[in-house]
Amino acid sequence: MAMGYADYGGGPVSEGMHSGHDRGIDSFNVPADRPADVVVDLVARKERFDIPGRGSMDGYTLNHTSPGPQITARQGELVQVTLHNESVPDGITLHWHGVDVPAAQDGVAGVTQDAVRVGQSYVYRFVAEDVGTYWYHSHQVSHEQVKKGLYGPLVISPGAGDVVAAVHTYDKVRTVNGRYGEHRVDAAGGSSVRVRLINTDNGPMATWVDGAAYQVVAVDGTEVNQPAVVEGKSVLVTAGGRIDLRLTVPSGSAVRLGLGGGPTTLVIGAGDAPAGAEPGNRVDLLSYGVSRPLGFDPGAADRRFEYRIGRRPGFFNGRPGLWWTINGHQFPNVPMFVVSDGDTVRTTIRNSSGQVHPMHLHGHHVVVLSRNGTAATGSPWWVDSLNVEDGETYEIAFVADNPGVWMDHCHNLTHAAEGLVTHLMYT
Ligand code: C2O
Ligand code: CU
Repeated sequence: MAMGYADYGGGPVSEGMHSGHDRGIDSFNVPADRPADVVVDLVARKERFDIPGRGSMDGYTLNHTSPGPQITARQGELVQVTLHNESVPDGITLHWHGVDVPAAQDGVAGVTQDAVRVGQSYVYRFVAEDVGTYWYHSHQVSHEQVKKGLYGPLVISPGAGDVVAAVHTYDKVRTVNGRYGEHRVDAAGGSSVRVRLINTDNGPMATWVDGAAYQVVAVDGTEVNQPAVVEGKSVLVTAGGRIDLRLTVPSGSAVRLGLGGGPTTLVIGAGDAPAGAEPGNRVDLLSYGVSRPLGFDPGAADRRFEYRIGRRPGFFNGRPGLWWTINGHQFPNVPMFVVSDGDTVRTTIRNSSGQVHPMHLHGHHVVVLSRNGTAATGSPWWVDSLNVEDGETYEIAFVADNPGVWMDHCHNLTHAAEGLVTHLMYT
């Protein structure tokens, strides 16, 4: 395993011509002889690809498309993905965003593996344990590689008729499932549809439904307990985060999902769909749904951390600028957060940096306890990607139950490349 700081610029690219097969097997956390249930081969290329509705662009593809193919598994199935790099010059990896895989499968160049060079392959194997909506993306020079196309949806145990909608902006062109403009999906009037929204961009996106009421049924892969029916409100999808909505398609007309307000929308059903502006009100996940036990006691924390995000003048990679800080320190001199297996961890995140940061912790889900001193009262709000606005303070908690070295970074991948990165490390 190559250690070192990975993704503010790019992890080391491995030397030698080993293939994924002889490389990965030591680190499999499932027996090497267990046959895979879901077998996927992905070939990454640097090439020009189509953006239906908007021409084409130069970027990166997986199996000649961007986004790459949707990976679907049932809970408990063993997923095996062979990644081959045909022509991406900086090397690539795949990270299973939001899936709490064993550390060896996490796909972070420079932390859990070396980047896969041109001509090499690498095999990932993990058991799909967490039902829900996820995505995958390269974690090597990710601010460039994700933006230019190396990502795709990953869904564990979807229902029949679910609509998966991955939103991504290529060169200022916002798309849904790789298309620009109105994207139509058939559904019979009267049918109940679950929409799985994935925000693969660097910034938050408001979504809303014109033509029907809806419920927010899951956040970052976790089901919401007793979600209220919402009308005339938007809901925010954190950068990197996922929101699942459920709605009933009316008979005789279609519904339209606003995706941040541009021309790219999702239309479900037959007939005309109303178009409206973003509603003025927003669902607050802090008080949405009905509370239920967390399964652990955040009051009895073994570790308490404070995580202050700021900004100050200095040099980064030799360049002068205003750079991000964590607890006053600039990358790579930021603190690591050290835990032991089984610890209950409570962390206060404060952002006084002047910008919003979608903070993403690998390998774990954390529950929000409070925001700006107001305690959470709704369904437990479990996230892997949390939108922390400037001036906000969040208290979060989780049980450290997945040993390894885990990245904890801003999912505005440009900010991560500028050093807004730390790690959670198990002793
Ligand atoms: Cu979606 Cu560290 O990433
Ligand atoms: Cu940020």
